[in-house]
Amino acid sequence: MTAPAEPMHELAHLGHASLFTPTPEATCSYFVDLLGMDLLEERDGSSYLRAYGDYERWTVKVTGADRAGAEYISWRTSSPQALDRRVTWLESAGHGGRWVDQEFGKGPAYEFDDPDGHTFRLYFETERYVAPEGKRPVIPVNIQAYAGRGANVHHLDHVNLLARDVRVCREFWEEGFGLRTYEIIERPDGDGELGAWMSSSIQGHELIYTQENTSGHGRLHHLAYVVESREEVLRAAEIMADALIYIEAGPSRHTAIQGFYLYTREPGGNRIEVANGGYLVFAPDAEPYVWTAEEWATKPGWGARIPPEFHVYGTPVVDPEQEMTT
Ligand SMILES: [Fe+2]
Repeated sequence: MTAPAEPMHELAHLGHASLFTPTPEATCSYFVDLLGMDLLEERDGSSYLRAYGDYERWTVKVTGADRAGAEYISWRTSSPQALDRRVTWLESAGHGGRWVDQEFGKGPAYEFDDPDGHTFRLYFETERYVAPEGKRPVIPVNIQAYAGRGANVHHLDHVNLLARDVRVCREFWEEGFGLRTYEIIERPDGDGELGAWMSSSIQGHELIYTQENTSGHGRLHHLAYVVESREEVLRAAEIMADALIYIEAGPSRHTAIQGFYLYTREPGGNRIEVANGGYLVFAPDAEPYVWTAEEWATKPGWGARIPPEFHVYGTPVVDPEQEMTT
């Protein structure tokens, strides 16, 4: 038996996402009025928002643009040294990027692209949120007082990106950053993977890649904020329905990682999930569960059928004429 590779704990957690939207005001209203987040800051044409359980000052940035999509996704590293080590690896492995200036509430970041062309940033320095008068929690260890507004999302949970080659992206994060993969779905043609669920911790999923079925690249599938119970996912559905927000899928439960979900499209078109649950992986030597295509097609357990558009739509939206069928 060969000794397993030493675990690498260089990435602490998913940090924040910067989203583009053609409807910045409506998108911000979605985050504030419907998800129940706070608008912390507006500067230089961007809005910075946070959920009441986010310990950093913000976890999503919204900027007006001609089309929706993710400008970048970030990871907070586990230390300044880890940040330097990962930059060294990126540059030595031919994935070098560039240092970018500090932005509101965050320290210097190193920006680079994954193999599919999604832009990522690594950073360590960050400003912690300090609740002002009126939002202070009664229990001092809490970040802020219970929000209890809208869908009442608690914190940023995970991001799902589309990739033309899921396996290449998975191996990039495993080899370069030590992310662990908890589930994989094999492609029916045996040539690669349909999906991979990855994490920097025991949390079942933080970064997900699923198959890009169009000619696009670097596209966002969805960004997920978590609520504290399944019941709150159902409540979110009521709130979204009455606000005439498009509900694409759910409420239901996924088979992979088994999170309970509600998928909506914010007014600018980015797919946003209200999520709860998903299992935890305590075993330090757990191997990923690999679903064969045949096994995956049987979808054991329960859960609603996902609509076909879930496997095609992403942001930026591609011209339907360019869409492939696989
Ligand atoms: Fe999700």
